[in-house]
Amino acid sequence: MTTAESLEHQTRASLYIPSPARVIGVQQMTDLEVLLQLAFDNGRPLDHEPGQFVQVSILGVGECPISVCSSPTRPDHFELCVRRVGEVTTHIHKLEEGDVIGIRGPLGHGFDVAELHGKDILIVAGGLGIAPARSLIQYILDERERFGAFHLLYGSRSPSELLYREDLTLWRQSPDVNFHLTVDRPDEQWRGKSGVVTTLFKELPQLNPTETMVVIIGPPVMFKFVVLEVLARRIPQKSIYCSLERRMKCGVGICGHCQVNNIYVCLEGPVFKYGQLKALREAIE
Ligand SMILES: Cc1cc2nc3c(=O)[nH]c(=O)nc-3n(C[C@H](O)[C@H](O)[C@H](O)COP(=O)(O)OP(=O)(O)OC[C@H]3O[C@@H](n4cnc5c(N)ncnc54)[C@H](O)[C@@H]3O)c2cc1C
Ligand code: FES
Repeated sequence: MTTAESLEHQTRASLYIPSPARVIGVQQMTDLEVLLQLAFDNGRPLDHEPGQFVQVSILGVGECPISVCSSPTRPDHFELCVRRVGEVTTHIHKLEEGDVIGIRGPLGHGFDVAELHGKDILIVAGGLGIAPARSLIQYILDERERFGAFHLLYGSRSPSELLYREDLTLWRQSPDVNFHLTVDRPDEQWRGKSGVVTTLFKELPQLNPTETMVVIIGPPVMFKFVVLEVLARRIPQKSIYCSLERRMKCGVGICGHCQVNNIYVCLEGPVFKYGQLKALREAIE
């Protein structure tokens, strides 16, 4: 087998056969979300694009798709933020440092970072949407000279549900990103902004419609209202990216679980241009 053939074989195999990955760090972020740091024992990088996902398998329990929340510019290990909702994710929450799990992927299409180079960037993230967004945020911060202005808006339901608190502090202090944060339901201790994420648009300077690319990641209801704000600033539809979560099983275009109209979200997404999604009304309503 030539080197090229061997590489292609490995890539194809990684779609179907889980590779063992070791938990090298665990951080409980909230009551429901845990951050896992993982590395393959043979030291190879995951080699993903920001916005791609992996299928995580727990032996004897099952598999589930999880977005990679760290950047490929930090190849020593990769990170996953997992919300506990059911059987597989409950088992993921029981993992400890040194445990080994199965990883298939990276899967799907992420952000076309080459298209983003040279542009002003606006990322709007809501709730767990900050997880896939973080991979792109880290990428932009690590490759800062390749981008123009960088604006980041993040909305969470409540202060206790805020994710990546250490990153939030860094982003708030960094001159490299114009970062604004809000919560829908403040508590007595909260000293920051309150209101839905669209209220943060008033913090933005005037956006240059031809030079700005926008990334929206969050629940469908947020997506609808954020798109209205963005279109009102004359940003063309072709400059708006969004990431779409559908129920998935195989993650590789075989089972049909993720199908919306004629599109398999696991293959063509989860990252789409707004123009593509508009045609898929079911996906955003
Ligand atoms: C491309 C993609 C990326 C994802 N990235 C992340 C991530 O970064 N972090 C994360 O925590 N989760 C992510 N998810 C969701 C995650 O895959 C599901 O929460 C997981 O499959 C649930 O498995 P389970 O066995 O624990 O729960 P199940 O027992 O299968 O389900 C428990 C409950 O969760 C609901 N549920 C199951 N799957 C989904 C889903 N896809 N969306 C919404 N509700 C669901 C079910 O309706 C049920 O109410 C992603 C999903 C996709 C498709
Ligand atoms: S998850 Fe099986 S076809 Fe997409």
